[in-house]
Amino acid sequence: MSPILTDAPVLYSLTYRSLAVRPLRHAELAQLLVAARQHNQAEGVTGILLFLQGRFMQYLEGPADGLDRIFARIQASPLHRDLTEPLREPLAQRAYADWTMAFLADADLAHPAPYGAAALTQRLKS
Ligand SMILES: Cc1cc2nc3c(=O)[nH]c(=O)nc-3n(C[C@H](O)[C@H](O)[C@H](O)COP(=O)(O)O)c2cc1C
Repeated sequence: MSPILTDAPVLYSLTYRSLAVRPLRHAELAQLLVAARQHNQAEGVTGILLFLQGRFMQYLEGPADGLDRIFARIQASPLHRDLTEPLREPLAQRAYADWTMAFLADADLAHPAPYGAAALTQRLKS
């Protein structure tokens, strides 16, 4: 059947929560985001990562197969534990089209950069 005749949604969102295994340093998060953004870009995945009081919440959006491959990487990371079962929903339109992974954190980083968490958040935008 021609894809144009199917109702199958092309885009999905995926949301989960997890706990950091220990206090994370600014440099670790920066490194994580650099790698994550490269993989996400390659898979057509966009989204936002929140890190508040040792808890992660991440929202990703993209094609189903790309999301599966990215989530497999996320699950394999030793930096977090107790991941919730991901919520997958069909999506009509991206909400974070311009962000390979936006990042927002409180001041709870183990060793915040001298310029503080707010500046880190700005600097890590992409
Ligand atoms: C909270 C959290 C969020 C993550 N988000 C992503 C992501 O959006 N994309 C991704 O590819 N990996 C993500 N990861 C996985 C790690 O960054 C992983 O180490 C990385 O994908 C491996 O890249 P590499 O194989 O190039 O070293 C995440 C890990 C954690 C702990």
